[in-house]
Amino acid sequence: MKSVVILISGRGSNMQVLLEAGLPVAAVISNNPAAEGLMFAQVHGIPTRVIDHRTFPDRKAFDAALAETIDTYQPDLVVLAGFMRILSEAFVNHYQGRLINIHPSLLPTFPGLDTHTRALQEGVKIHGCTVHFVTSQLDHGPIIIQAAIPVLTDDTPATLAERVLTQEHRIYPQAVQWFLQGQLRLVENRVEITTISNSQDVLYSPGIEP
Ligand code: GRF
Repeated sequence: MKSVVILISGRGSNMQVLLEAGLPVAAVISNNPAAEGLMFAQVHGIPTRVIDHRTFPDRKAFDAALAETIDTYQPDLVVLAGFMRILSEAFVNHYQGRLINIHPSLLPTFPGLDTHTRALQEGVKIHGCTVHFVTSQLDHGPIIIQAAIPVLTDDTPATLAERVLTQEHRIYPQAVQWFLQGQLRLVENRVEITTISNSQDVLYSPGIEP
């Protein structure tokens, strides 16, 4: 059976929905011993591991130890779910085509941190989230699925974050399922979903929700 390893650094709400979706998660690994999500995984009987980045001399050494641990589970897919470490090119190359991330913006706009604050500052009318394959360029890489929500006049970074997170929880399990079912195909820099002929299912656009 195919399997997934999830990497987290904190709260782990995306990890939680992936577990609740019944996906075949072999292990949850965190760079942060205090990550809240670890407890949820443990309670659900998922093996957890901590590789504390602070105990390594540099990024290269941390990434090597992380990859070694991941590879003991021989996952088909490595899922970044709020994993707050920049990964080296060697690490990304090692998992090429089987490493995905969720980012709280409509990439390629707003890569990096503080996406909701920046979206408000720029006055964009549409904001959202993206699941994408990871490349060595930060928050960049072939896009699998996006969800777009309207930015409301009275939105704050917190209200925007909350509505975007709701959509993250919809699209991430879908993307992982597509991957595990072998439905994602990379054509140059574009992802095709072999069972979908139009864009309807790769863009959630829920409109203004109460
Ligand atoms: C999410 O907004 C995700 O898009 C970003 O980090 C946050 C993680 O949240 N990469 P959680 O730990 O999954 O609750």
